[in-house]
Amino acid sequence: MKIGVDYYPEHWGEDYWKEDVAAMSRAGVQIVRIGEFAWGMMEPEEGKFDFQWLDKIVSMFTEAGIEIVLCTPTCTPPQWMFEKYPEIIQVGTDGKRVPIGIRGHRCMNSPLFRDKVKTMIQKLVHHFKDNENIAAWQIDNELEANFCCCPVCAEKFREYVKKKYKTIEKVNEAYGNDVWSGRYTSFSQINPPFGTHQTWLNPSYMLDFNRFASESTVEYLNFQAGLIREIVPQMKLTTNNWLPENIPDFYKLFENMDFVSYDNYPTTVIPEDPEELYSHAFHLDLMRGIKRKNFWIMEELSGSLGSWMPMTATPEPGMIKGYALQAAAHGADAVLHFRWRTAKSGAEMFWHGLIDQSNIPGRRFEEFCSLTGTLKENPVPEETEIHNQAAILYSTESEYAFKIQPQVEGMHYFTQLKAYHDAFTANGVGVDMIDANSDFSGYRIVVAPALFLADEELAGRAEEFVRKGGHFVLTNRSGVKDENNQCVCRALPGIFADLAGVYVTEYDPVGLKKQRIRIQKDSWKQGSILCVSAEDKDTAFARDELCCSLWCDILGIETADVLAVYGENFYENAPAVTRNHFGQGECYYVGTVLNRRGMISLIGEIVRVAGAEHIMGLPLGVEYTVRESEKERIHFLFNNTNRKKKMELRRVNAYGMGEPVKYELEPFEMQIERQML
Ligand code: GLA
Ligand code: ZN
Repeated sequence: MKIGVDYYPEHWGEDYWKEDVAAMSRAGVQIVRIGEFAWGMMEPEEGKFDFQWLDKIVSMFTEAGIEIVLCTPTCTPPQWMFEKYPEIIQVGTDGKRVPIGIRGHRCMNSPLFRDKVKTMIQKLVHHFKDNENIAAWQIDNELEANFCCCPVCAEKFREYVKKKYKTIEKVNEAYGNDVWSGRYTSFSQINPPFGTHQTWLNPSYMLDFNRFASESTVEYLNFQAGLIREIVPQMKLTTNNWLPENIPDFYKLFENMDFVSYDNYPTTVIPEDPEELYSHAFHLDLMRGIKRKNFWIMEELSGSLGSWMPMTATPEPGMIKGYALQAAAHGADAVLHFRWRTAKSGAEMFWHGLIDQSNIPGRRFEEFCSLTGTLKENPVPEETEIHNQAAILYSTESEYAFKIQPQVEGMHYFTQLKAYHDAFTANGVGVDMIDANSDFSGYRIVVAPALFLADEELAGRAEEFVRKGGHFVLTNRSGVKDENNQCVCRALPGIFADLAGVYVTEYDPVGLKKQRIRIQKDSWKQGSILCVSAEDKDTAFARDELCCSLWCDILGIETADVLAVYGENFYENAPAVTRNHFGQGECYYVGTVLNRRGMISLIGEIVRVAGAEHIMGLPLGVEYTVRESEKERIHFLFNNTNRKKKMELRRVNAYGMGEPVKYELEPFEMQIERQML
């Protein structure tokens, strides 16, 4: 794997370049990313291109043996372009062009913008086509779904709907348009989602608009990819990704890319309360799961984050190095720190880099050097990959449907996924985050949190999986909607009812209020796997409390066994968590949202019943992962806390329980152990 930085030569006079490149070499930088916002410098006037400055810095890096990720600068078109061609600017839901001056505000569907993009890319790629030091191209920057309401998008959306449904009657049926006189009599009545009352808009129509917005982005990305590949067919292509408000369908976005990249900014504040969810490794696993392959971190935490908000705490000692190694432990093949030096001007001057504006290397820079040093001694080869026995399903469409109709205060689709991810991590079980539409038959345990919107095909796959011996976990808010985002007209969990062996008699969206829950005698052992370290003993986490919040499905039983019941409210003693024996396997139904302790102990129980390999004795916040190739296995043990942790770990697998091994880890320390095969 490689370590690098994001660099903005255009922000600093040429005087800086020579010394910067030399300092990067000394610091062990192997790769830099440049150019993603530099359109204004590359085409200062319409049709007048200037790559001379870029040539200079590119050759400096090339001479220094530092590889380059070059970017298409299309996220920030220059000011002259906006002035001359205002039709390239996105239109908001108020029907007005969004104010310019910020970035990312171009409409990806605008033919005129596409034209400008085409010329720019052809010139740029052609110019650098023979440079063998370019490791990859990054297309654009942090692409969101193209949520634009301009006339071009309106027409394209109409075409999208027409192509999908063919007749206007079919559209009316799919959207249930008899509500509020919403029936269309012609395709010309279909518009983008205008208006301040977005929640008054038809959710079925909104889901289609989200699908369309995502498809537009995917198409735009592939348009750029096509232009690059025409000139350099073998070039590796990627785009850097995050979790914006309008998330594109990750799986489609990266279908045509060579690898996934992610911008990783873990929190610098560790929650005091161990009950508080703390699982940013979730994002890393989500990124690995997109292509089920190793990925890159294109931007990595380097200092206090600010600019878009008041500044966060600066990373504690150990965090910068620890989080980079944590990314490697979850499958990153490159980690590029954002950024080499903090900006001195522009909107982001308080989003800190490794070195501050003074250019005097300090603590954060020293830590970065220690990171490159560690990886020199202990290289993590790209051919080592991660193989897990458990998976969590991510459904793009359920995420959209949840965003369109929030279910209860405090309940977010991603938090549900994260909570299960956290529970596997605490139980020493590696977990993959994968597309709900993909094949999950190879796993032992599959959790499908809040599969709000699901179809027969998915339900069929889940049944098949369990019938053959798999362990499947369903939760509240599953099977609620059909593919048109209309409610199903049967008892929930709808198409999953047979598999779960339960039905929802009524539900209570309790929100943030905590409620007691009781585990049935002998049904599962609380915290049997989690080791509570000395420090954790003083905290609420050790108090053995089990409770739930947000949502309570009051369950009726068909064939399932009851594992836990509600401990209060008018449905005291009603089933809350169940297990249904189905074929050779088991299907769990979790009708509520357990607190962290409850979640960890439930997953611990499922891991035990499923016979999944795990590490016993991990203190809270310590993470274990493995990368392996045919030649070797690399074990990563990471203390993701700011306290020293002592532990005695045992491996449990099909051969039984291993001997205990003692470990001690400093705050944010990563222990790397190599095992030759
Ligand atoms: C994102 C962007 C960067 C920068 C950082 C900090 O990750 O890709 O260009 O703006 O956020 O805000
Ligand atoms: Zn548009």
